[in-house]
Amino acid sequence: MKVAVIGLGKAGLPLASVIADSGMDVVGVDISDKRVQNINKGINPIPEEKGLSELIGKYGGSKLKAVNDYKYAAEECNAYIVIVPLFIGENKVPDFSNLKESFKRLAKIIKDHYLVVLETTVPPGTTENLIKPILDKSGKKYFLAYSPERIMTGYSISRYKEFPKVIGGIDKKSGKMAFELYSKFCKKVNLVSDVKTAELIKVAEGVYRDVNIALANELYQVCEKEGIDYYELRKNANHEFCNLHLPGNVGGHCIPVYPWFLINKLDVPLIKKAREINDSMIEYYADKIGIKEGKIAVLGLTYRDNVKELAYTRSIPMINLLQKRGYDVYASDPMYDKNEIEKLGVKFTDRFEEMDGIILMNSCEKYKERLKLIKDRVIDTKGILK
Ligand SMILES: NC(=O)c1ccc[n+]([C@@H]2O[C@H](COP(=O)([O-])OP(=O)(O)OC[C@H]3O[C@@H](n4cnc5c(N)ncnc54)[C@H](O)[C@@H]3O)[C@@H](O)[C@H]2O)c1
Repeated sequence: MKVAVIGLGKAGLPLASVIADSGMDVVGVDISDKRVQNINKGINPIPEEKGLSELIGKYGGSKLKAVNDYKYAAEECNAYIVIVPLFIGENKVPDFSNLKESFKRLAKIIKDHYLVVLETTVPPGTTENLIKPILDKSGKKYFLAYSPERIMTGYSISRYKEFPKVIGGIDKKSGKMAFELYSKFCKKVNLVSDVKTAELIKVAEGVYRDVNIALANELYQVCEKEGIDYYELRKNANHEFCNLHLPGNVGGHCIPVYPWFLINKLDVPLIKKAREINDSMIEYYADKIGIKEGKIAVLGLTYRDNVKELAYTRSIPMINLLQKRGYDVYASDPMYDKNEIEKLGVKFTDRFEEMDGIILMNSCEKYKERLKLIKDRVIDTKGILK
């Protein structure tokens, strides 16, 4: 079986590299010409991903051949793993256009007995109700399975190598074929009853994190009202059956997105409330500033430390909120230069000492010692300045 990975982004490229590293030849398909060219030259487009540069340098253009043409993959491969992005917009409704486009192209080239596996995190039911009807138009007898990626940007290579891979087939034979494929390059593969179970497993992981962070945020607010240190409480409360999470803002492609896959369709009041609580934390922190006007800096713009990405970050809504409240707003982030920050519509500052207030959104290790000296003016959402 020769495999093609469709979508060479932050999730797909580490996967294709891990497949190549297992000794298999792999074709990577991406619509971005620049990305394809770089990979074939051995240049890693995601340098912050640990271990990826080494693998791309070793296999790019040889064992991992990147192409922008689905037809080439059709001639070379008989198994396809699709991992193109699915976003939600302002209205929280998923935008399936990348997925639809990708599977329409696949339906044109697929042949009898080919295996197709979807990895993109999707609302449960998507593989059966959206993807299968598109592939059925091919008129071919194909196998179809779902296997959620469970990576964390920055640690994807180790996740792919160590984390159990979950697989669900549209039927028994599809599940078995996908199981055999993934067993070639994954250490542990768990075949579950069906595609919908596999889809919901990934969504449930995100929901678990979101709900638990909401609980932490509520308890954090209780602690502040009662004059108690939440971090001390958490340290002493946690044990085998109690896992209080860290409080704070929730950003990134996963945790703030996946709960909507259930909220949009079902009556899930706890999950819905958790989303509201986590989204409202920017107001809670902004209320703590304690002055009505002045210069306020938002430090840390990325959705997580050390990942240069703004997807669903709460720092941009925080900047917008402070601007709306009439503050003179500045920003800084260890991963962005002055120009990049100003392009986001906010003034840059590295003169933290001149600010009347600071909202520390990420850990920003680089700034820590300076911030400790002015910590009375810092709203420390990460609890790191103590
Ligand atoms: N990045 C993460 O940390 C992360 C974590 C968990 C899950 N995921 C999952 O991975 C999915 C993909 O996210 P990502 O972070 O890799 O996205 P990304 O934006 O980094 O990359 C997506 C890639 O797909 C390519 N692409 C888009 N449409 C295509 C098409 N029709 N055919 C071929 N290529 C196409 C783009 O050119 C791009 O290179 C997400 O929707 C999510 O389900 C990502």
